[in-house]
Amino acid sequence: KIVVLDFGSQYSHLICRRIREANVYCELVPYNTPAKALKEMDPKGIIFSGGPASVYAKGAPKPDRQIFAMGKPILGICYGHQVLVDNFGGKVKRAASREYGRAGLKIDDDSDLFKNLDTSINCWMSHGDAAEKVPDGFKVIGHTENSQSAAIGDHERKMYGIQFHPEVVHTERGMQILKNFAQEISGAKPEWDMQSFIDTTVKEIREQVGKDKRVLAAVSGGIDSTTVAALMHRAIGKQLSCVFINHGLLRQDEEKEVVRLFKEHLGIDLIYVNAEKRFLSRLKGVTDPEKKRKIIGDQFAKEFVTVAKKHGPFQWLAQGTLYPDVIESGVSKGPAAVIKTHHNVGGLPKWLKLQVIEPLRFLYKDEVRKVAKLLEVPDELLKRHPFPGPGLAVRIIGAITPEKTRIAKHASKIVEDELKAAGYYDKVWQAYAAVGDDRAVGVLGDERVYGHVVMVRVVESIDAMTADWTRLPYDVIERISNRITNEVEGATWVTYAVSSKPPATIEPQ
Ligand code: XMP
Repeated sequence: KIVVLDFGSQYSHLICRRIREANVYCELVPYNTPAKALKEMDPKGIIFSGGPASVYAKGAPKPDRQIFAMGKPILGICYGHQVLVDNFGGKVKRAASREYGRAGLKIDDDSDLFKNLDTSINCWMSHGDAAEKVPDGFKVIGHTENSQSAAIGDHERKMYGIQFHPEVVHTERGMQILKNFAQEISGAKPEWDMQSFIDTTVKEIREQVGKDKRVLAAVSGGIDSTTVAALMHRAIGKQLSCVFINHGLLRQDEEKEVVRLFKEHLGIDLIYVNAEKRFLSRLKGVTDPEKKRKIIGDQFAKEFVTVAKKHGPFQWLAQGTLYPDVIESGVSKGPAAVIKTHHNVGGLPKWLKLQVIEPLRFLYKDEVRKVAKLLEVPDELLKRHPFPGPGLAVRIIGAITPEKTRIAKHASKIVEDELKAAGYYDKVWQAYAAVGDDRAVGVLGDERVYGHVVMVRVVESIDAMTADWTRLPYDVIERISNRITNEVEGATWVTYAVSSKPPATIEPQ
């Protein structure tokens, strides 16, 4: 494996993912991880990520110096490059001309790092500091117009520093550079692939759970919980029970579909709980979105406990936690403001004595998708848009009423159907119709009707952190609007949300 020391760059995760794409397992750890802990991880090579600091500034993040004596190959990227330079007695200074964006890199040396590359590539830079004096033992192996030591290397000790970012797509052949470091220089074997992940994880789950212990998992039909269920089912079969809780704020027919798809494609009988009444009665008259989330999370926990008691005893709880949720960056990000609470299940009581098993905790989302495919999770589940845990509760602005719920469900179904018909469904991140208490006049026949305003939202996104509204063709918007006002009783106006995230968010609440 390769280990990345995280100095706080926004691309640290990306380095990790790229190395994995080169079929070498990679983990991200805080920059101040002690050499002793690193030795125990037994990496073939170590990468220092970029970061926002200046190495010469007071209190700049530095790694444990013993790491340099481990005899392992090291690749420093951007700030990591400067850490190398600084550590071995070179000099880093504020650059006379800063470089942001594209730069031409000329390769000066046929080192293993640049194996299978042309002699010049476009690379992507983002730095204000530069190495002014190259440390002893290192030589320049690549330069750009503004950066004479953009790439340095000590072939003997297998230590390399590059000022540019090979992990971003704007660096041509950046993937090849990372692959060269992992495979050629560090000698890591390309053994990380999702089929072998499944095989090892199935074995581990069996060992961990044992032959007679039982596992409970809550599933929503979303990709993470579905993949956990499929993987656990393959490992321990009937020792696993999966529960699907219907809170009454799902997409149209979702509860039937999820139950059917689990049975037909995965051979899993879901414990289906219709808790609609219990959720909705607690939500009655509640308008504050965070309060809605809290109530739903709390009721989820209660329903879960009831199932655990009725179908138990269970010793394990399986959860779909992913790698980015598991690790915390070593560089403190400071207390971030809570914009929305996304934890969907409130705390479970200790007396249930459930131990947590998280078989996806080493995976990134795209890897989970591959695992799901290999486990034959059907496309109908895989291709569905993500759906928030509190469901329509965050798409119904103000109090949740049966009428608004009906309108949101029906209108959202129309949005989805029309996007599918126009070939847009698979291209966008999420698409739905929201409804609030705003009303507007419509004429039905000769009658004046004071109906609901329905807001259609269609967004594109990579990771839900940022999003942009989809430029749908006018005729698609028109069909959606016509169908909603014609078919959904009580809807008179349709609006299209054209705010990006930020400053707006994907969901209206
Ligand atoms: P926002 O609205 O914050 O949404 O831009 C980002 C992504 O998260 C989903 N979302 C939630 N998911 N529980 C969830 O599991 C929640 O309370 C919740 N709120 C928003 C949203 O659908 C989008 O994909």
